[in-house]
Amino acid sequence: MSNIESLSLEHRSFPPSESVVKQARISGMADYHQLCTKAAEDYKGFWANLARQHLFWHKPFTRTLDETHAPFYTWFDDGELNASVNCLDKHMGTPVQNKTAIIFEADDGKVTHITYQQLLERVCQFANALKAHGVHQGDRVIIYMPMSIEGVIAMQACARIGAIHSVVFAGFSANALHERMVDTEAVAVITASHQHRGGKILPLKTIVDEALSLGHCDAVQHVFVYQRSETPCPLTPKRDKTFADILANQPNTCEPVIVNAEHPLFILYTSGSTGKPKGIQHATAGFLLWAKLTMDWVFDMRPEDIFWCTADIGWITGHTYIAYGPLAAGATQVIFEGTPSYPHAGRFWEMIERHRCSIFYTAPTAIRSLIKASEAHPEVHPAHYDLSSLRLLGSVGEPINPEAWMWYYQHVGGKRCPIVDTFWQTETGGAVISPLPGATPLVPGSCTLPLPGILASIVDETGHTVPHGTGGMLVFEKPWPALARTIWRNPERYQLAYFPASLGGHRYLAGDSAVRRPDNGYFCMIGRMDDVLNVSGHRLGTMEIESALVALTELVAEAAVVACPDPLTGEAICAFVVLKGAYPSDHEAKQIAVRLREGVTQNIGAIAKPKYIYFGESLPKTRSGKIMRRLLRNIAKGESITQDTSTLENPDILAQFDRVY
Ligand code: PRX
Repeated sequence: MSNIESLSLEHRSFPPSESVVKQARISGMADYHQLCTKAAEDYKGFWANLARQHLFWHKPFTRTLDETHAPFYTWFDDGELNASVNCLDKHMGTPVQNKTAIIFEADDGKVTHITYQQLLERVCQFANALKAHGVHQGDRVIIYMPMSIEGVIAMQACARIGAIHSVVFAGFSANALHERMVDTEAVAVITASHQHRGGKILPLKTIVDEALSLGHCDAVQHVFVYQRSETPCPLTPKRDKTFADILANQPNTCEPVIVNAEHPLFILYTSGSTGKPKGIQHATAGFLLWAKLTMDWVFDMRPEDIFWCTADIGWITGHTYIAYGPLAAGATQVIFEGTPSYPHAGRFWEMIERHRCSIFYTAPTAIRSLIKASEAHPEVHPAHYDLSSLRLLGSVGEPINPEAWMWYYQHVGGKRCPIVDTFWQTETGGAVISPLPGATPLVPGSCTLPLPGILASIVDETGHTVPHGTGGMLVFEKPWPALARTIWRNPERYQLAYFPASLGGHRYLAGDSAVRRPDNGYFCMIGRMDDVLNVSGHRLGTMEIESALVALTELVAEAAVVACPDPLTGEAICAFVVLKGAYPSDHEAKQIAVRLREGVTQNIGAIAKPKYIYFGESLPKTRSGKIMRRLLRNIAKGESITQDTSTLENPDILAQFDRVY
């Protein structure tokens, strides 16, 4: 065993091979440092050059960054452009025109290819249909769609006419959808009759009907329905129309609406520590610049690449690295409708082999579940598939544990593919801390270093930078073009949540705690510092889940939700519930737990269902009435409580939490 192999995983370093370095855009650490120095010496000039180089401007900008109304920064704000032109039209007349833009694989394995020219034509037709139904620049459009070429077309068509899309993950419930329809005052909803996942056909349009029936969405004039299956779905006359109806006779060219650089491209809701999900608002030019640039930097995109990001368009990863980034980069990408385990847990590897994917980007939870599956069913181990087309792997959404990293590296990447562990958030618009495949030596479990132009630090409560090796709060010292502009119609919340006065009021507070390695300064993410949970890479607020439980008014008096570590999903949801009735018997508790999970599924979606439920006659509280969440976390982790509980108003209560459902 060589010295390096005897080191524990977290201390091993995997430098890029010479051949990878030689071919890379950013080639070696000297290149990386040179870019960082350029940004440090002339921050505005750095970004202005990149924006001129990577975006097609109808009206060039003269101003780069305006900090007058900090933290409401604006970028390139006298420039004008259109996002769909930057993803599609710009490729016409180039070799990309007839290149495959999307390889779509349906749940049942049926494969459809669409070229850039065909995609542009279909986006134009859809944009014309939206205009014909009175959708204008600035109007909000909800997209509630399964993974499909049509979903991407819907997003691009909105961008083409300057309408602001708000994609809602198709796993969210009618309530969650309703909340987003009301908050955005959407004028139209784009949906599908059904979604096909894991061999099942699930109704989708009926959830839209249910959401609309909840009221207060009078702004919604139209529901456009993609007929995904033969099974008809109910259509409300006048309001609902199928894609076939609205697209018939629409020309396949459409003059793009040229918008200001700061025009909102989309609103995407994400969970925060308090209240309802926040409508994160992104600006057209800044977002698009970063989507394109990180395709080049982080994925080192080449013309012959086949890129596959397994995220859903309902999340930010699907916005940046499916709907916009790959198209802006002129890539061929795979879009998958189904789930990794259907019809068997080798589906991902089979698809990489079938489509000769060269870049594969997925979440640690998926990797962990496939490790487990291949232990139980050796025939779905990646060794049984030809993965020789791969040259680069990526990870996103949650910390990747070194063991899962190593398995991914060895068995999927054949020890030859770098892994880019990309740290980012809905708010950051794209990857912000990530290795560069042709430069950064990799260390399992670390997302390594900030990308050029991104100034990340770790600080204590007083805002002072902590020494390497000491944990603290992750902050970004300066804004960059892709940072979210605001929370939709709630600028106060934006300022309060992300730019606390205690840190100077101008630094972006990510909400994650992190530590830098003493040996190389690499960033390692520890986890959220606020009441945000990360279950399988899905971001959920404890408050949201608590509200969903308490909404079951006939049953629940009080609820508290905490996270507990989970070997598969990273974190699991653990709920402590006080019932209105008497403390339940074992039999009653089982039945009630089923109803509580159903209630949360109905209120938010199945992803928010608590894995563990405890019942008690009350929650552990201080004498001033504050719930002692720390104790609940101990119980959830199965730890014995060693700390002093004498400050608790009701210390005996802890003994009740000995049964879990
Ligand atoms: O806690 C961090 C975690 O996911 C959060 C952001 O969630 P969301 O806005 O849904 O975006 C997810 C996809 C970009 C972060 O605050 N997170 C994301 N990527 C990583 C991560 N934690 C550790 N390592 C990562 N690579």
